[in-house]
Amino acid sequence: MISILDYNFSQLNNFLEELKPTQLLILVDENTHEYCLPTLLGNLETEIPFEIIEIEAGEDLKTIETATQLWEILSEFETDRKSLLLNLGGGVITDLGGFVASTYKRGIKFVNIPTTLLGMCDASIGGKTGIDHQFLKNIIGTFAEPERIFVFPEFLQTLPFEELRSGFAEMMKHGLIADEKHWNDLISIQDLTPENIFPFIETSMKIKQNVVEIDFKEQNVRKTLNFGHTIGHALESLFLQKNQPIPHGEAVALGMICETRLSFLENLMSEETSENIIKNIRKFYPYISINDFSSEEIISLMKNDKKNTDGNIIFSLLTAIGNSTFNCSVTIENIKNSLFYYQNLR
Ligand SMILES: NC(=O)c1ccc[n+]([C@@H]2O[C@H](COP(=O)([O-])OP(=O)(O)OC[C@H]3O[C@@H](n4cnc5c(N)ncnc54)[C@H](O)[C@@H]3O)[C@@H](O)[C@H]2O)c1
Ligand SMILES: [Zn+2]
Repeated sequence: MISILDYNFSQLNNFLEELKPTQLLILVDENTHEYCLPTLLGNLETEIPFEIIEIEAGEDLKTIETATQLWEILSEFETDRKSLLLNLGGGVITDLGGFVASTYKRGIKFVNIPTTLLGMCDASIGGKTGIDHQFLKNIIGTFAEPERIFVFPEFLQTLPFEELRSGFAEMMKHGLIADEKHWNDLISIQDLTPENIFPFIETSMKIKQNVVEIDFKEQNVRKTLNFGHTIGHALESLFLQKNQPIPHGEAVALGMICETRLSFLENLMSEETSENIIKNIRKFYPYISINDFSSEEIISLMKNDKKNTDGNIIFSLLTAIGNSTFNCSVTIENIKNSLFYYQNLR
């Protein structure tokens, strides 16, 4: 289990010195190549030979085709179990890179260096890797842990605002499911800027890390991290099918609004608390209309979610700010009512 999250380049250099890989492969996308790789290379102090592997940016590339190309490239570079893959990028790079590393030659070592807020607080932690297939997100993947996670918050300086806001939704989720103080800290932020968010990144990372350490294979408490994601994922997939992708975090923010309402409808929390939460989520996120989708369509996608069994839709819901529960089967009527509630918010 990963227990150390590292925050400076000397720790990365020390780590490489100790591990002594024969070769470094640095996976980047076009943006992290431009904005993050120069900083990384400028701070690397090592004699280990390295190769840069660049892919285009975006979720569209998180596919089996890209994975195949990457396996071929690793083969051309004669990568073996003594090589180390450095995933330098957002969740797409760490998910895809982790997947490719964990399957190539039955697994080579990899390190995550997340460069988006979502990557830092969520995707790089917890050992889930994966690719999308036929409009289904993360439908193919492995559980595989990076050797280490190195977080350099300064990378956030070049991140577009929408991406920053997207990652912030996962931080809010961490507060809601597990830590009231964290939630209060986050909602007191006036403007979403890297500087204002920096002080709270570590707490978010630790919340995720703790949950994953207790329940790596998602048998119980890890499921609470899915709060906001049952409805959020379904809507994210529907927008993707319509060729109007929305950022993951915005889908999660939307999902959290509906699932907070659902927590109230299922008698898990008071209406007052739920309204307070929803008001604070809405402070940061624009309203996205979901009127193009019928509730039947949304619900049928949820039934297909790999986390559900026997056609039941299982939710992780809130019982208070900073407290959550999982394995909640809810009524279809309440799901519809929570979607309806959202539609009436505009
Ligand atoms: N494995 C997990 O547990 C887990 C958890 C949550 C999300 N995810 C996955 O993460 C992915 C989303 O991650 P994401 O939001 O980081 O997306 P992303 O990797 O596509 O990054 C978003 C955009 O920001 C650019 N970028 C990255 N770092 C930058 C920087 N420092 N400066 C400027 N631009 C930069 C990227 O090139 C990209 O265009 C999804 O595929 C999702 O499924 C995985
Ligand atoms: Zn998420």
